[in-house]
Amino acid sequence: MLQFLLFLHTLGAIAVGFYLILPFLANRLKGSSGETLKGYAKGLYLGNRISQWILVPQFLTGGYLISATGGGYSVPWMIVVVVLFVIVGAMSGMIGAPLRRISNGISNGDAASRDAGKVQTFAVIGFVVLLAEIVLMYYRDLI
Ligand code: HEM
Repeated sequence: MLQFLLFLHTLGAIAVGFYLILPFLANRLKGSSGETLKGYAKGLYLGNRISQWILVPQFLTGGYLISATGGGYSVPWMIVVVVLFVIVGAMSGMIGAPLRRISNGISNGDAASRDAGKVQTFAVIGFVVLLAEIVLMYYRDLI
C-alpha cells in the first residue's frame, strides 16, 4: 500500500511538472494576437486546470505518506513542504483568471498583454516554488 501510494505520489509529481515548463510556454503569449492568442491561451488554461486537479491527490497522498511512514520527518520539513505546496496551489489559481480572460477575448490589446504578464509572473513563482518543493522531497534532511 505504501509503495503504491508513493507510486501515485511520484506519478502526480511528474504530471504537475507542467508548472516547470509553463513559464516557457507562457512566454509565447507575448507576440501573438487575435484568434491565435485566444486559442493558445485556451490550451494553457486547460493544462492549468488539469494540473490544478492533480494537486489534490498530490496533497492527499503526501499526507498519507507522512503518517504511514511513521514519522522520521522533521516538523520544519513538514511545515515548509505544506506551505510551499499551498503557494503552488495559489499560483495555479491566480494563473487561471488572466488566461480565461485572454481566451474568452474579455481582455484585448494592452489588457491582454497585461494579463499575459500576470500569467508569466505567477508561472515563474510557481516554477521556483515547485522546484524547491521537489528538492525538499529528495533531500529530506535539509531542514
Ligand atoms: C506538488 C507538490 C509535490 C511534489 C512535486 C512531490 C514530489 C515528490 C516525489 C517525487 C517524491 C518521491 C521521492 C522518492 O523517490 O523517494 C515525494 C516523496 C514524498 N512526498 Fe512529496 N511531493 C509534493 C507534495 C507533497 C506534500 C504536500 C507532502 C506532505 C503533505 C508530501 C509528502 C511526501 C513524503 C512524506 C514523501 C516521502 C515518502 C518516503 O519517505 O519514501 N509531498 N514527493
